[in-house]
Amino acid sequence: MGLMPENTDEFYRIQKLPPYVFAVINEMRAKARAAQLDVIDMGMGNPDGATPRVVVNKVIEAVRNARNHRYSQSRGIPKLREEITRRYLTNYGVELDAEREAIVTIGAKDALAHLLFAIVGPGDVVVSPNPAYPIHQYGVIMAEGHACVLPMPDAATFLNRLEDLYRTSTTKPKILLLSFPHNPTTICVDLDFFKQIIGLAKRHGTMVVHDFAYADLGFDGYRPPSILQVEGAKEIAVEIFSLSKSYNMAGWRVGFCLGNAKMIAALARIKSYLDYGVFQPIQIASIIALRECEEDTHKICAVYQKRRDALVKGLNRAGWPVEKPRGSMFLWAPVPERYRSMGSLEFSKLLLEKALVAVSPGIGFGPLGEGHVRFALVENEQRIRQATRAIGQFFKSDKA
Ligand SMILES: Cc1ncc(COP(=O)(O)O)c(C=O)c1O
Repeated sequence: MGLMPENTDEFYRIQKLPPYVFAVINEMRAKARAAQLDVIDMGMGNPDGATPRVVVNKVIEAVRNARNHRYSQSRGIPKLREEITRRYLTNYGVELDAEREAIVTIGAKDALAHLLFAIVGPGDVVVSPNPAYPIHQYGVIMAEGHACVLPMPDAATFLNRLEDLYRTSTTKPKILLLSFPHNPTTICVDLDFFKQIIGLAKRHGTMVVHDFAYADLGFDGYRPPSILQVEGAKEIAVEIFSLSKSYNMAGWRVGFCLGNAKMIAALARIKSYLDYGVFQPIQIASIIALRECEEDTHKICAVYQKRRDALVKGLNRAGWPVEKPRGSMFLWAPVPERYRSMGSLEFSKLLLEKALVAVSPGIGFGPLGEGHVRFALVENEQRIRQATRAIGQFFKSDKA
């Protein structure tokens, strides 16, 4: 699917990584801003809200203590591992052993990239939906595995395609890599979907990795399930949880990998060679986030929900029909019919040029992302309304 461009002048691994599609839009945005233009930036999923104050206060206190300036532990301090297992028990009724079934990571990205590096060997098949968060495919490619991407217009179609693959393929998938609420499509699933996934994977000897970066971003009463809620899931599955979105802590770089002890031991081994763990004051402050800031996660989610409502209403009013996502911090919008043939990258450039609104072109999330653009809900409601008005005016003037 065009994931491996040939360029023999490049380093071995670099030639497998195409230039970042989003760089084109980033460059245009930077130019517009340099020209004093007010760009409304809904491109990158970079949370704009502040980290809860108690967490900030704790890091300040901990950083003053010289004991916390030394190398920390690569797999995370025990108290932080215990705190995440407590949260899983409280929120999902999932029991985890903090020693064997939990590891702290430098965000979900570190967990994903290095877990794949640890458990994927040359030619191992890793199945994931497309479009997807780029590391889901390129983490596999960097580990020299075979990234097998299946279309996901909706969760049920993905499941059908997966069943077909098991029926027809001669090479057995080694790993299934999923993520719900899903970036960029915003597709959400219920526990029953995970039960079917775990059942299928168990029958076929496949391991499952679930990236749960948007664990706390479910709207209108929907609560995203953890895959570890499925009975016996941890016999074959791990879940990756992150503080980035749940607690507005993207810059702090704290995540976890939880569940299957064998996969976690593999990740711990790789990481023991690569890093000395997250800076200890940050780990200490993260304990406070998990222990004391549950209410903040609800407030953060409520902010995204209101922004979602403002964006959906504004785009529909501008003549761009879109549906309300049930979760995540994005809106995945089909490129309006009239602009579809130009492709998502050209359309994104046009939105930036004519309406001063930056979005991410769907093609940046893989070949099956073409035909859509992604809005990240990282501007406030007033600016979202300003953006949709500008888009409406652009559509009108373009028709005239
Ligand atoms: C699906 C998905 N996984 C992982 C990440 C990265 O999370 P972290 O900040 O914990 O590395 C993102 C960030 O946007 C994401 O969308």
